[in-house]
Amino acid sequence: MNSTRPASLFPLRIRGLRYAPDGREVLGGIDLELGDEGITLMLGPNGAGKSMLLRALCGLLEPCSGEIIWGDGPRPTQGVMLVFQQPMMLRASVLENAVLGLRPAGLRRAERRARGMAMLARVGLADRVADSARQLSGGERQRLALARAWLTRPRLLLLDEPTASLDPTATAQVERIIREIRTDGTRILMVTHNLGQATRLADDIVFMAAGRVCEHTPAQRFFSRPQSEEARRFIQGELPWRMTF
Ligand SMILES: Nc1ncnc2c1ncn2[C@@H]1O[C@H](COP(=O)(O)OP(=O)(O)OP(=O)(O)O)[C@@H](O)[C@H]1O
Ligand SMILES: [Mg+2]
Repeated sequence: MNSTRPASLFPLRIRGLRYAPDGREVLGGIDLELGDEGITLMLGPNGAGKSMLLRALCGLLEPCSGEIIWGDGPRPTQGVMLVFQQPMMLRASVLENAVLGLRPAGLRRAERRARGMAMLARVGLADRVADSARQLSGGERQRLALARAWLTRPRLLLLDEPTASLDPTATAQVERIIREIRTDGTRILMVTHNLGQATRLADDIVFMAAGRVCEHTPAQRFFSRPQSEEARRFIQGELPWRMTF
């Protein structure tokens, strides 16, 4: 699998990225640079454009202007994975869902299953492999989605509110898996509304509001001395929940 990884996607540079469907500006000129290591947490009020930025990064939306520069290579065709808040599961077993991303790698079925079983054990789903994926709880489903993404050994993993509807125990389990994926060499960019989670996981924070990146700061500095007025008000709970454009 290693030989199929793209040479380098980093530094990832986003320059003047703009997306304005029907003339309504959703991304208003995003500038951001990400190095090749660590966990970046993206914060910001509802409607700030966080999910749209993740979609742009994995090619699910075409910006009207600006550019995304991946290291010194072209837009990658593999190595970037997005996990949604409510991951889609096929009407099939947990194991079959886990190994979906391995099919393009051309592995034999037995090898796919062996890798899938090992990965499901890592995320605490060893005793659920034969169950229907659609019967899993929210937390179990999220762990399965992380296992499915992790099995493809992505260089960049984009996570959109992976613990949004989970209880504290399920949240802690997902956070442990996210740390392990990072330790395994995957760069992580993750959206959350959970400030406690951001302090636990983040190396650095990207704060977005109204379609723009207001600041990108090391996590400790963000929480002790945010640079932007918007972030200061957000941390103090003063920023209006929905920004008007
Ligand atoms: N497919 C779409 N076409 C046009 N506009 C969209 C589309 N999807 C979302 N939007 C708009 O883009 C803006 C940013 O949405 P986005 O989902 O990125 O916000 P967000 O920061 O992820 O918010 P939340 O914290 O609520 O998830 C919103 O005003 C939303 O209505
Ligand atoms: Mg969102």
